[in-house]
Amino acid sequence: MKKILIIGSTGQIGSELSVRVRSIYGDNNVVCGYYAPPFPEGFFEAGPAIKIDAQQIKQIADAVRKYDIDTIYNLAAILSATAEKNPKLGWDVGVGSLMNCLDVARDYKCGLFTPSSIGAFGPNTPKDNTPQDTIQRPTTVYGITKVLGELVSDYYFEHWQVNTRSVRFPGLISNVTLPGGGTTDYAVEIFYKAVKGEVFECPVKAGTFMDMMYMPDALDAMIHLMEANPEKLIHRNSFNVTAMSFDPEMLYAAIKKYYPNFKMVYNIDPLKQAIADSWPNKLDDSCARKEWGWQPHYDLDKMTADMISKLSGKLSSRA
Ligand SMILES: NC(=O)c1ccc[n+]([C@@H]2O[C@H](COP(=O)([O-])OP(=O)(O)OC[C@H]3O[C@@H](n4cnc5c(N)ncnc54)[C@H](O)[C@@H]3O)[C@@H](O)[C@H]2O)c1
Repeated sequence: MKKILIIGSTGQIGSELSVRVRSIYGDNNVVCGYYAPPFPEGFFEAGPAIKIDAQQIKQIADAVRKYDIDTIYNLAAILSATAEKNPKLGWDVGVGSLMNCLDVARDYKCGLFTPSSIGAFGPNTPKDNTPQDTIQRPTTVYGITKVLGELVSDYYFEHWQVNTRSVRFPGLISNVTLPGGGTTDYAVEIFYKAVKGEVFECPVKAGTFMDMMYMPDALDAMIHLMEANPEKLIHRNSFNVTAMSFDPEMLYAAIKKYYPNFKMVYNIDPLKQAIADSWPNKLDDSCARKEWGWQPHYDLDKMTADMISKLSGKLSSRA
């Protein structure tokens, strides 16, 4: 039985990953490391929780020892658009937390999952069917931390056999927790506006294609990769994974099938547009499919139907 520590467990991914892994491995076998509010409802009642600042290696090591942890999901980060406004903080949290987790994983023989991102690519990366192994020259501090993270995680595997594994997540869409300041956040925010009957101001231009994924597929990706047979893994840090690629107009059209009067206007955020323009249109994730059986279940229409059904229930019960 695995004993799991999730660092950054109250964020967009962590708040759902913790529920999913607890349902698989047992409530008491999953420890939620938290850093700052807001806390998901019932957070402290659901299972063990401990305050961890991932920039403090002692706090991670103490938690690993105390709970006899064998697997760490390190989700502490400052997302792309926020990190561009405060590059030093983006670097310190992104790199500091990873280096601390790597050392603890090496010293206590833990598996370690740390997400990379489509932000690990840059403007001179091939934009369509972006290969697994290709040019990575990102132009954001977030992307630079992700490339460093991929390389140093492979280094710890090669030198000390630390069981590091990772995926390059695209924009993640969820109906549970709002995103934390990324470039693809618009693809979540648009649903809230549609369901509330409000006008949506889209911060990126029509024709800006980016990879996206619905959260249930993202959770599957993390858990399946951490359970994958190591002998089958040719790559480790990090696998391209995607589920769909769309631009704002395609998403708008998919939502209008449910809300014909819904209105979207453009109010371009130059920072988010510049970041989006530097990222791929669509990744080739065939290595993940071959090496550990990656297979998403949600495309644009299926994700839209589920988002609208879940959000309309949630928002109407709050009204
Ligand atoms: N959400 C996405 O669309 C997306 C896409 C690609 C990659 N990722 C990656 O997935 C990971 C998690 O992303 P998320 O969307 O859940 O982000 P988020 O911003 O929602 O959550 C990040 C969490 O890190 C915590 N944190 C910040 N500083 C910390 C510190 N010093 N110590 C411990 N915790 C700290 C925050 O409190 C928060 O709970 C990040 O590595 C991110 O780069 C996310």
